[in-house]
Amino acid sequence: MRIECGPCVLRPWEAGEAVAIVRLADDWNVARYLRDRFPHPYTLADAEKFLAKALSGEEREVRFAIETAGGELAGGIGLIPGTDIERLNAEIGYWLGEPYWGRGLAPAAVRAMTEYGFDKMGLARIFAVTMVENTASMRVLEKCGYVAEGRMRRSAIKRGVVHDQMLYARVR
Ligand SMILES: CC(C)(COP(=O)(O)OP(=O)(O)OC[C@H]1O[C@@H](n2cnc3c(N)ncnc32)[C@H](O)[C@@H]1OP(=O)(O)O)[C@@H](O)C(=O)NCCC(=O)NCCS
Repeated sequence: MRIECGPCVLRPWEAGEAVAIVRLADDWNVARYLRDRFPHPYTLADAEKFLAKALSGEEREVRFAIETAGGELAGGIGLIPGTDIERLNAEIGYWLGEPYWGRGLAPAAVRAMTEYGFDKMGLARIFAVTMVENTASMRVLEKCGYVAEGRMRRSAIKRGVVHDQMLYARVR
């Protein structure tokens, strides 16, 4: 499955791109606002573990690589559906390697993934959680029609520092 989104394409992850992932992901500027499950430093073993999961059955449908229109790997995006009564509700997460920031790739990718979630996965709600310091990510979500639902005070700890987070969501 390839999803065209203007300046970028969302496509399945490919075995053999672990080195390319590490080149982009092993960067504190990328990791600083992400969950610790996106490790720092980001090693080859981390990339291989991620790929093994992303290439497996169900995950293949919900995790995509973000590629530039020119065919370069730029980052990743995914939807994690809830379970039980929250199964029509999914969390969206995304990241780009620093060389690909500031080109409008994230808004295009988030817009395309959101449409995919509603149209192909039948979701009713897609949400995102961002640290309040992550201005660029909050702007991306707002540009994609996500609405701030609230400030989750002191809800995250990163490197020993407690942060407030914003909850954003878009509903169908
Ligand atoms: C957040 C991220 C995805 C943004 O991607 P991007 O493609 O560079 O986004 P854009 O260049 O289109 O910028 C989005 C908007 O934020 C604005 N912006 C960017 N950096 C900003 C900053 N430091 N302060 C204020 N606004 C900023 C841009 O001007 C743009 O708004 P505009 O179109 O109204 O001018 C990217 O920086 C990233 O991958 N960061 C690391 C991982 C991460 O934090 N992921 C999100 C977790 S919730």
